[in-house]
Amino acid sequence: MEQIKRTKVKDLLKCEPGVEVLAKGWVRTKRGNKNVAFIALNDGSTINNIQIVVDKTAVEESLLQKITTGACIGVAGKLVESVGGGQAVEIQAGTIEVYGECDPMRYPLQKKDTSFEYLRTVAHMRPRTNTFGAILRVRNQMAFAIHEYFHSKGFVYLNTPLITASDCEGAGQMFQVTTLDLNNVPKNKKGQPDFTKDFFGKQTSLTVSGQLEGELGATALGEIYTFGPTFRAENSNTPRHLAEFWMVEPEMAFYDIKDNMDLAEDFIKHLVKYALDNCRDDIQFLNDRYDNELIARLESVADTEFVRLPYTEGIKILEEAIANGHEFEYPVSWGTDLQSEHERFLVEQHFKKPVILTDYPKEIKAFYMKQNEDGKTVRAMDVLFPKIGEIIGGSEREASLEKIEERVDALGMSRTNLEWYIDTRRFGSCPHSGFGLGFERLLLFVTGMSNIRDVIPFPRTPKNAEY
Ligand code: 4AD
Ligand code: MG
Repeated sequence: MEQIKRTKVKDLLKCEPGVEVLAKGWVRTKRGNKNVAFIALNDGSTINNIQIVVDKTAVEESLLQKITTGACIGVAGKLVESVGGGQAVEIQAGTIEVYGECDPMRYPLQKKDTSFEYLRTVAHMRPRTNTFGAILRVRNQMAFAIHEYFHSKGFVYLNTPLITASDCEGAGQMFQVTTLDLNNVPKNKKGQPDFTKDFFGKQTSLTVSGQLEGELGATALGEIYTFGPTFRAENSNTPRHLAEFWMVEPEMAFYDIKDNMDLAEDFIKHLVKYALDNCRDDIQFLNDRYDNELIARLESVADTEFVRLPYTEGIKILEEAIANGHEFEYPVSWGTDLQSEHERFLVEQHFKKPVILTDYPKEIKAFYMKQNEDGKTVRAMDVLFPKIGEIIGGSEREASLEKIEERVDALGMSRTNLEWYIDTRRFGSCPHSGFGLGFERLLLFVTGMSNIRDVIPFPRTPKNAEY
């Protein structure tokens, strides 16, 4: 059997009939009659299966019995034109080898229970389902598209550290990293943990953002991006939050807030178009199976000019909606942070297209954002998307040493921990901007899934790190 080279199902489906081929994969279904068996085989290379036709008189009954749903097999045979509808070619089985049986009595995927919640508990089966196969292939394509986009624009891919001593967002949602013995923590004179005895000689955590280090890259190399795991110990069990997620963070010297918005809009539209052009089969499957407005939604975003609106105007619209009888769960007034329901109202009901909200009150945004002349707002920009809410958060950065030091102090942050960063404003400070795109939020949008746990292979959420 191994004399012929294995061909992936994706490529087999494009082959001209008449050749001898070898396919390997997992059995999706087996059906048939007295004389022939039809096996649908999938190897993960595409959402589509290749049909294997087995002449029952030519194979041993005991072998056939081992070919059940979920079993792993190899089939050598002739690729022929398919008589049945649905596929152009199929394989007329010559020899079949069973690599791994799959006991039908213990098979964890019964037709009746394939809910997303249940699948999350069956780590080995989840990626073998049509749905997760599709999602994971789209995820892979999107990661590639991100690198390709920035690479083609001359951005430098900068690897920022996962272990850090500074809280970029200042929100205190960090996972501590320590090698101290938790049963016997060394204490200092004040009775507090003595982090000078810890591995790094200071208190460290997993990063909540690569931005601060990214700024050092941008203010030296011009344009950089980071793309890596990001960790937040926020105890929010929502369909849009993960404790471990991936973030793409471009950071650009000499970009003001407008340049930053232009890049964010172009970037995200490019990614959506890329998905439509390169993941068609998978997206069509997701569209047909779960959300028949998915493709239309993707196409509309790819062709629409995003609305650009100051926060203050956004609040006015929301207040007007409330005056006209619209009910929100959370209150709205100038100065409050917007909840996802408010963001989605602006996007889905008011404007019916993506919105870039700018110039937020400085009190609800991070210390590094450039302060506006009004003394009240900062040059922040959040990109808000249908079904998702916030998909991107970014800003022009404060370039003035004086102003950034004043913000660090006002927020009670440790200046000592940040000196390495503040130095960028001390030595050749430059205007610059950047943003962060939540990779899984992008995937939620592109796949039409409704829970963020279902667009990452191994989700990490509060009380959940099973595998
Ligand atoms: O708005 P955030 O907190 O911005 C930053 O971290 C900036 N330092 C980015 C920058 O300017 N370089 O996060 C950016 C994006 C959000 O818009 C959201 O898409 C995603 O990261 N995000 C999460 N995704 C999944 N789970 C979470 N817990 C997330 N928190 C943020
Ligand atoms: Mg944000």
